[in-house]
Amino acid sequence: MVRSKQAENKSNFLCKLSTLADPSSKSFSIKKGRKKIEIFIVRKGDKVFAYEDVCPHAQAPLEWNKDEFLDKKKENIICAMHGAVFTIEEGQCVSGPCGSAALTPVQLEIIDGDVFYL
Ligand code: FES
Repeated sequence: MVRSKQAENKSNFLCKLSTLADPSSKSFSIKKGRKKIEIFIVRKGDKVFAYEDVCPHAQAPLEWNKDEFLDKKKENIICAMHGAVFTIEEGQCVSGPCGSAALTPVQLEIIDGDVFYL
C-alpha cells in the first residue's frame, strides 16, 4: 500500500488498530499546524473514525471519563456535558441540544494496522 505524505510523517502516528477494543474510543492530543488540538478516535469493526473533542453545542469536551466517549451500549458518541448523542460514522447529532450540528471530523489513514491522522 502507498503511504500518503502525511502518513509518512511518523509524528502523525496515533496507535495500532489492534490495541483498540471493538468498539472503543481513545483520546489524543495532536498538532495541527502550530496548534495543539484534542481529538478522539472510535473503533467500530475494522473502521476507525476521528473527531475533534469539541461539542458543537457549547464547545465543551465530550469526554466523560479517560478515553470514554461512547454511550453504555457503545452504539453512539455521547457528550459528557449535556448528553448530546452523535453517530459514530458521521458525527451527526441525533439527539440532544445540538440540533442538526455535527462533530468536526479528523481524517485518518490506516496502513498495515497503524492508524495515522492526516
Ligand atoms: S456541550 Fe455537548 S451537549 Fe452541551
